[in-house]
Amino acid sequence: MIRFNAVYLSVGMVAFLGICLSVFSGCNPEPDGSGDEIKRTEETYTLFFTGQALSTLKPCGCSEDQLGGLERRPAVLHTVAKDKRLVIETGNLLRQDSAQDRIKMNIFFQALHLLEYDLVCLDPEDFAIARSEGLLQDNHFSMITSARGVSELPSVWSRQVPLKQGTLRIVVGAASRDFLTDEKNEDGLLPVFGFEPNSEDEFRILIIDDCSDLDVSKWTIVDLIICPAAATEPEILSPSSQGPLVVSVGKLGEYVGKLTVRIAAGRPLHLTYEGVPVSSTLPMDEHLVDLYEFYKLRVKEENLLEKVPKLALPNGLEYTGSASCAVCHKYEHDKWSSKAHAKAYQTLVDINQQYDPECIQCHVVGFQFQSGFKNENSPVDLRDVGCEVCHGPASQHIASQLSGGQYAAPGDPKFRCIDCHTPEHSVNYAGHEDEYMQKIVHWREPKAR
Ligand code: HEC
Ligand code: HEC
Ligand code: HEC
Ligand code: HEC
Repeated sequence: MIRFNAVYLSVGMVAFLGICLSVFSGCNPEPDGSGDEIKRTEETYTLFFTGQALSTLKPCGCSEDQLGGLERRPAVLHTVAKDKRLVIETGNLLRQDSAQDRIKMNIFFQALHLLEYDLVCLDPEDFAIARSEGLLQDNHFSMITSARGVSELPSVWSRQVPLKQGTLRIVVGAASRDFLTDEKNEDGLLPVFGFEPNSEDEFRILIIDDCSDLDVSKWTIVDLIICPAAATEPEILSPSSQGPLVVSVGKLGEYVGKLTVRIAAGRPLHLTYEGVPVSSTLPMDEHLVDLYEFYKLRVKEENLLEKVPKLALPNGLEYTGSASCAVCHKYEHDKWSSKAHAKAYQTLVDINQQYDPECIQCHVVGFQFQSGFKNENSPVDLRDVGCEVCHGPASQHIASQLSGGQYAAPGDPKFRCIDCHTPEHSVNYAGHEDEYMQKIVHWREPKAR
């Protein structure tokens, strides 16, 4: 446990909140002792933390100004010289385990190498996937894991950081919530760090995959606890003056957690924690841009679109495609054709992402269903946000009209605006529902048939 005296958090450069952590120099954030001795030896060292990518390599691009993206991360990390920084990934790279996530795991590993990470912490799920993908032999960065009872990776890592005067030893341990709550582990953290904690001059960091319901403040042998999953932005969760400092690192790669350690000989460490937004105005790194192109190629090669399981529509209904409506609803079809929904597929083609099931689902008709869009060989009029997305599959509606039988309206499912215009994909939708509706008007007003 090392002495540190004050911590600030500024998220998004806007909020600036000062928190005083210990009693060493009262609650004065600027240690006043500006003696020559201290000035000469004062220096800073920076630890960058990311985590909770949850399978996100970059934002979807559905709305402007979305935060995040691996290709913009160098613009944050490389603002600090390599010998003055430590870059640590804290885990939860993947949201789940699927063929697409496995491709992403390989991409993440290449990206973490390009981004010059020093240490990658794998939670038990990430560990299992990385192992079966043969990624644990990667030697471009160090790895630890919170998975227990595995021989491939340790749970603790350390580095001796050279300073102007002496060195600072940084020790990082990883533990899963399950392990820490297991009553059999009476020794608590000792098995994680594997040593008797008596050394004064170490800065100890503990990464816990999930801190929910844990009383982390009791682990006073560590200085900093990272609970990646605890908040969606980098935040100080426990500014307690007694126990360790507890922080989150944000989610989906939107921010990078930045801990600046100011060191002056003979003084307690001065810590500043802030969330640096990976803003859409930051420059892109060309190697990471290329890597994402490679990812899209892998998604295409693996034919992921074909592998998505398809459901049958209720009542024997089928999708018939937007062109089939034009015969009888020419007015509506012409109007619709001139609007954004009618180019939703082309939007994906323009960025070569029409092979990605994670994108296609909202940019075509009935992707989840047997008679809906399958791939680029499907009928052209199942592309885009077509008529039947909102009005429902129309096979029986059309049959009833052609046969002159009893009228049948288009059936279910009918997707609502909010099913696709989610906060994640349509940042401006909430609060502007009427404007959005006005922009898609394709019906005669007043409505008449
Ligand atoms: C949950 C549904 C959904 C998913 C999944 C989705 N999108 Fe979108 N996308 C939308 C919506 C809704 C809009 C329109 C947003 C707006 O204007 O408010 C949009 C718009 C876009 C646009 C901007 C179009 C323009 O011309 O302005 C791009 C580019 C885009 N999406 C790409 C993607 C990519 C790439 C993926 C996959 C990584 C993806 N989308 C996944 C719903 C989705
Ligand atoms: C053969 C002609 C014909 C075709 C093809 C056709 N419709 Fe219709 N549709 C009609 C007629 C006629 C009505 C008015 C029925 C009534 O309410 O009397 C109608 C009504 C509708 C309505 C209003 C439903 C309601 O009950 O309020 C919608 C929505 C609609 N059609 C959508 C579609 C869509 C989408 C397609 C293509 C997938 C389509 N129609 C194809 C003839 C057609
Ligand atoms: C199946 C998913 C889906 C549904 C359902 C959906 N949209 Fe969209 N919407 C999209 C996509 C994708 C785009 C982007 C199209 C493009 O530009 O490529 C979009 C774009 C738009 C745009 C253009 C935004 C702009 O600023 O250019 C408007 C307006 C819109 N939608 C309104 C609506 C309304 C209103 C509803 C409900 C009646 C609705 N949408 C339902 C997927 C959907
Ligand atoms: C993004 C969703 C969406 C898409 C795509 C869409 N519509 Fe609509 N449509 C609506 C909404 C919303 C209304 C207004 C419905 C209401 O208020 O009853 C409407 C109204 C209509 C009406 C008038 C219904 C009535 O009760 O009088 C017809 C006909 C119609 N649409 C046909 C089509 C056709 C044909 C297409 C494709 C060329 C299409 N729509 C595409 C959402 C959509």
